[in-house]
Amino acid sequence: MSRGRFITFEGGEGAGKSTQLKRLVARLEGEGRKVVATREPGGSPGAESIRELVLNGAADRWSPTTETLLMYAARRDHIERVVRPALTRGAWVVCDRFADSTRAYQGAAGGVGPALISALEAEVLEDTRPDLTLVFDLPPDVGLQRAQARAGGEMRFESKGLAFHERLREGFLAIAAAEPARCAVIDADASLDEVEARVWAAVCGRLGADG
Ligand code: TMP
Repeated sequence: MSRGRFITFEGGEGAGKSTQLKRLVARLEGEGRKVVATREPGGSPGAESIRELVLNGAADRWSPTTETLLMYAARRDHIERVVRPALTRGAWVVCDRFADSTRAYQGAAGGVGPALISALEAEVLEDTRPDLTLVFDLPPDVGLQRAQARAGGEMRFESKGLAFHERLREGFLAIAAAEPARCAVIDADASLDEVEARVWAAVCGRLGADG
């Protein structure tokens, strides 16, 4: 059986990733594909426990380096138990955030050096790399307003301030510019239906999902 495809959704806060992820999963299933929808940090029971630790509490509860290690502990469990087995069975895995979030949040915005992050990527991800990464791009003030309007307690990163979120945006755009074959930037400052059409065009154009 051929390996499935691995699609990741990335971007700052309030870019509408989760809504768009549900829409993409429905469309892929409509094409008759087996799809596993998942998220990071989390996606497996152990990784969801780490998510609780890392996303709740005061903004300075963890240093950026500690966050990096917690994210990678969660990621390894998720990869071993969910992502790799699904890809091996031929399913398509659609994941709300993955390794680029660590590069952008803890790296570009948090100041963790690229050496640690690159070493963790090599050791922990091995060959489990996304086939396509959709980078949802939105001015940070618009995204933060949307995120703050949403109910929910996981506010550690939303509460870090506009300068952090500006660095985050630049970090994601730099990743997309450095790896254009893997990444597609989606302008998320549009209606849900318009953004959905942009996502579908990228998935079909890059992965031939409708073929
Ligand atoms: P979300 O489910 O709203 O996307 O929230 C996840 C939060 O975790 C979000 O603020 C980004 C943050 N995060 C990191 O800082 N580093 C990571 O590696 C991942 C996966 C998420």
